[in-house]
Amino acid sequence: MNQDFIPQMRPFFEKEEKEELIKYLDEDGFYTEFRKTEYFEHQIAEFTGAKHAIVVNNGTVSLTLAAIALDIQPGDDVIVPNYTMIATPNSIRMIGANPIFVDVEPETLILDIDAVRTSLTAKTKAIMLVSANGRSPVAGIENFEHLSADTGIPIIEDAAQSLGSFFPDGRHIGRAGIIGSFSFSTPKIISTGQGGALITDDDHVASKLRKLKDFGREAGGTDIHPTLGYNFKFTELQACIGIAQMRKLSGRLKRKKSIWRRYWDHLSVTPVSLFQHDLNVCAPWFMDCRAPKREDLSLYLESAGIGTRIMYPPINSQPAYNKPGYYPVSREIGESGLWLPSMIQLSDQQIDYICSNINRFYNDTY
Ligand SMILES: Cc1ncc(COP(=O)(O)O)c(C=O)c1O
Repeated sequence: MNQDFIPQMRPFFEKEEKEELIKYLDEDGFYTEFRKTEYFEHQIAEFTGAKHAIVVNNGTVSLTLAAIALDIQPGDDVIVPNYTMIATPNSIRMIGANPIFVDVEPETLILDIDAVRTSLTAKTKAIMLVSANGRSPVAGIENFEHLSADTGIPIIEDAAQSLGSFFPDGRHIGRAGIIGSFSFSTPKIISTGQGGALITDDDHVASKLRKLKDFGREAGGTDIHPTLGYNFKFTELQACIGIAQMRKLSGRLKRKKSIWRRYWDHLSVTPVSLFQHDLNVCAPWFMDCRAPKREDLSLYLESAGIGTRIMYPPINSQPAYNKPGYYPVSREIGESGLWLPSMIQLSDQQIDYICSNINRFYNDTY
């Protein structure tokens, strides 16, 4: 079968985003964050059920701001999963705090709660819980909340990959921690090019976050700065795109779920093992799997015009950190984890083509 190269991911913007942007450019010239941004924040708060949503430049700085808002200091320890995008630990390194790497559950790649318990010390000042690919921990989110309540150690939820995914109790992911963080970078469920959002129900934390992202200002348009703050503001241009994307969110989530379902049905006869998702509550962002002979499979698929991406290596072994430690699950994912093509615009016919090539690879090589 001859067809164009199928990338692992490609952003998906349509005419609605363009129209929203052009309309704004014709009507207003403020550009920096204002009414469109407020409306985008309102959409996020409404969709997630959070009291406050605050948008910022990206989903890394959002985590840094969350840590500052919770008074994390240089030298403090913060628990992070050893399987995550490197932004999670880097976000707190930026303020001189130490990421403490903890291994993850094999089923979900979310922090292993027992390993978290044994890693807590007097220096632990927060837990960054990453809901890998929209999943919830097998250990139960309520047990993380109990742990936080018992120890007084706050949870920051890095829900960068989880817009549109919910805990089994119906709360949107990102709402179990005191602060939840999302990313709108190009591969995400919705995108504003770059962008991030913080959600919280805590008025005091929300007010701190708003000041932190705007030079410590009490309110817009004044130059009195009662507290330290920086410039991590959004733009109206991003907000226009975000507003149009949010209007299409339910369709985008539906497509992600049907892509996963089709892969699941086709791949059950192959040695590839997709991570499980409960589609009633979870919208997988990337189609992640364990693939024996991963490198060979990836090359084979590439020669058939199919892009894949190696999943995150264990953070402790990244040259940027290079720390010893025993992390069997994240190490194993570093050897076998693979992302299959996952873009919203992927057609059923392309999925069938990808799966038949995966099937052929294992039939030929096993
Ligand atoms: C789990 C996780 N955290 C944080 C980030 C960083 O988000 P951003 O690229 O918007 O800075 C990402 C981005 O992929 C992510 O997957």
